[in-house]
Amino acid sequence: MSKMKSQYVCQNCGAVSSRWAGQCTSCGEWNTITEEIVTTGSRGSKSRIPQMTYTDLSGTSPDEPRVKTGMHEFDRVLGGGIVQGSAVLIGGDPGIGKSTILLQASASLARNGVTCAYVSGEESIRQIQMRAKRLGLDNSRVKLASVNNARMVANDLACPNAPSVMVIDSIQTMCVPELEGAAGTVAQIRASVAEIIQAAKQNDVAVFLVGHVTKEGAIAGPKLVEHAVDCVLYFEGERSHQYRILRSTKNRFGATDEIGVFEMSDRGLAEVANPSQIFLSDRQEDIAGSVVFPGIEGTRPILVEIQALVSPTSYGSPRRTVVGWDSGRLAMILAVLEARLGISFGMHDVYLNVVGGFRITEPAADLAVATALMSSISGTPIPSDTVVFGEIGLGGEVRPVGQTEQRLKEAAKLGFGNAYLPRFVRSGKGAANPIAKSVSVNLISELAPLFADDLRQFSGDEAKRPRAVRSA
Ligand code: TYD
Ligand code: MG
Repeated sequence: MSKMKSQYVCQNCGAVSSRWAGQCTSCGEWNTITEEIVTTGSRGSKSRIPQMTYTDLSGTSPDEPRVKTGMHEFDRVLGGGIVQGSAVLIGGDPGIGKSTILLQASASLARNGVTCAYVSGEESIRQIQMRAKRLGLDNSRVKLASVNNARMVANDLACPNAPSVMVIDSIQTMCVPELEGAAGTVAQIRASVAEIIQAAKQNDVAVFLVGHVTKEGAIAGPKLVEHAVDCVLYFEGERSHQYRILRSTKNRFGATDEIGVFEMSDRGLAEVANPSQIFLSDRQEDIAGSVVFPGIEGTRPILVEIQALVSPTSYGSPRRTVVGWDSGRLAMILAVLEARLGISFGMHDVYLNVVGGFRITEPAADLAVATALMSSISGTPIPSDTVVFGEIGLGGEVRPVGQTEQRLKEAAKLGFGNAYLPRFVRSGKGAANPIAKSVSVNLISELAPLFADDLRQFSGDEAKRPRAVRSA
């Protein structure tokens, strides 16, 4: 029988001690000591180490069998459904909707005849039943338990009538009895997750582990669960908006960066089949600073509105506020506009917002952001049926980005008739540009004439007219 005990290891030099300390006595670094779990085997077990056996790469099953939840957005993010025996981590801020989506997915699975258990260490049975009633799921045949002993969970996974899918909400509430320390500590989380995942793999049960994200943005404790699971999904969105995005950041059985879009209503989360339409639905036309960016999320194009507001600063140092984009990237675009076009933002506050609580991670949004900034500072709206995309280099050059055709196709489908984009390279034969008035941009300065007279007061440069591409 193996036993577990904890030890304290410096993450910098690897020194091991029996007590925690703020400073490592061996290398002198501060705050590098963390608790770790060691499993000690009983005496004599070494003599019975089994022989290793090898096999080859050709397995018997060509595809992993998938269990569909029936929620299409959820299935797509997973890469086409749940893989049997897989472990999935769902991270996100508290209150974002993790419990809700997993209860809905469980109920949907149960409806399709899959045995499914929902184990909560956070809420009482009564609370979950109340939520189920509100969601109209109180008649579904999901097995429910309120437990926070990871060993009990692992035992249940190993019993003959174990469910096919189990939800564990959350890993921060699970603990292993032998270990000292409250649930939620690094040691407890690591040990609990290890026990649960091992049992799940051995018994071919798919498990969903809920993980709350700490203030620093890491799932507590940092990254220590991510490597142990097959798939990591993050549930994102602004709490004040109704839209929620489920994003896969790691998937051993499918594409990453795939997203599913949901809308939170009083009856739970509803799938959004056409997100572009939703993200653009409340758009006001002809507002300076508003630009539509055709983004790609995973395998899917999504059009989102980017808004910039540039206004004279009233305090000493100008403000830079970004929602839904990277603030470092904004600083870079501002610097490029200043260096290459001579537009000075030094006396202006800059606010940048991606509408609908959406978060853009692609550099392809650079040109759209730059256009929004120029549009706002000059007070000149750009035509509302225009999409803009392209990566910007430090020299002010506009670089080609991936999946140009997909972006243009989605924009054309939603009625956009103008596009500013990097040089369009046709791939293969049939791919023609579906947007009639497309302008290819090589340098960011080529966009300045769109705002010509109004930009001149902020810049001395006379830029050339953009060159129109022959419509295909
Ligand atoms: P929850 O799933 O409990 O979040 P998490 O498990 O990520 O902490 O979601 C809680 C929030 O969702 C709460 O603010 C209320 C809201 N909500 C609705 O708006 N409609 C609903 O039908 C449900 C169940 C929750
Ligand atoms: Mg919850």
